[in-house]
Amino acid sequence: MPDPRKAAIIGCGFVGASIAFALMQQGLFSELVLLDVDRAKAEGEAMDLSHGLPYAAPMDIYAGDYRDTANCSLIVLTAGAGQRPGESRLDLIGRNIQILRGIVPKLRDHGFDGILMVVSNPVDILTYAAWQLSGLPAERVIGSGTVLDTGRLKQLLSQRLQVDSRNVHAFIIGEHGDSELAVWSGANVSGVGLDDFCALRGLDGRRQTLHGLYEQVRNSAYEIIARKGATYYGIAMAVSRIAACIVRDERAVLPVSVVLRGEYGLEGLALSLPVILGHAGVETVLEVPLSPQERAALEASAAQLREAVGQLRL
Ligand SMILES: NC(=O)c1ccc[n+]([C@@H]2O[C@H](COP(=O)([O-])OP(=O)(O)OC[C@H]3O[C@@H](n4cnc5c(N)ncnc54)[C@H](O)[C@@H]3O)[C@@H](O)[C@H]2O)c1
Repeated sequence: MPDPRKAAIIGCGFVGASIAFALMQQGLFSELVLLDVDRAKAEGEAMDLSHGLPYAAPMDIYAGDYRDTANCSLIVLTAGAGQRPGESRLDLIGRNIQILRGIVPKLRDHGFDGILMVVSNPVDILTYAAWQLSGLPAERVIGSGTVLDTGRLKQLLSQRLQVDSRNVHAFIIGEHGDSELAVWSGANVSGVGLDDFCALRGLDGRRQTLHGLYEQVRNSAYEIIARKGATYYGIAMAVSRIAACIVRDERAVLPVSVVLRGEYGLEGLALSLPVILGHAGVETVLEVPLSPQERAALEASAAQLREAVGQLRL
């Protein structure tokens, strides 16, 4: 039986270590196992993180191996290469699929039966591959997807609209990558549509201006990587939000990457859509209304991902 208070992170680089730091501060788990092909790195991170525990909540953080993953309720997979400046996420497929093929069968062989969350890129392709390799039900294999991108959009909209980002309701869906799209047709601030909200506040709400915000979101990783070499704090907060939703059985709506089985007329791939998420994983994929342009953009994003999945011969 998975232990609801135990989680593991596989891959303790920038992203894995930042996620561990964010999870530790939330106090969601009482046991956190760190795994890395570089065992010393996992040990060093566990030591460093543990030294903060007197100022957080009691918790056991340690470097472990695959036997320790057997009874985890959540495993976060961040092992793998990150984008180098100018590289797209899809450029990482070759390197990271090999790493995934080395990890997921070991989880299966050790009897892991919890929720597997993929963060390594290209996250949608790897989520689909992880589902196939793991033998887990589709509702328990998710990718962090566009939860990060949606957070970026909410933050930019909040600055533009001069309102708390938590009252901005908008989604980025599709690939966590260059073909992602913003669902402008349903975007609102506490129920007030964007056009009306901008008129009310005397702000520029033209589509062209909003499109500029979407472009900033889409290019965020490139911009950050060009400046500091990697992105990790935003994704750490996104993953810790997803983890909280699962552990507390919140049934919040989050745009994680999910294996599709006919929703939106799509199957044979994983991509991000708003889903209701709880302790058993994905409960329901929400079919939100899309404009004809948004539906076409989603289908184009799906076609690109399906082609990439097809080339893997899983
Ligand atoms: N989904 C997202 O929104 C998002 C955001 C940022 C980064 N990422 C992705 O996260 C991944 C990690 O990025 P990073 O910046 O932490 O990279 P990093 O190079 O700092 O860390 C990767 C870690 O994986 C480890 N590793 C490699 N092969 C392994 C294996 N077989 N088993 C266990 N550990 C292994 C390495 O030793 C290293 O510590 C990348 O693929 C990156 O693109 C995803």
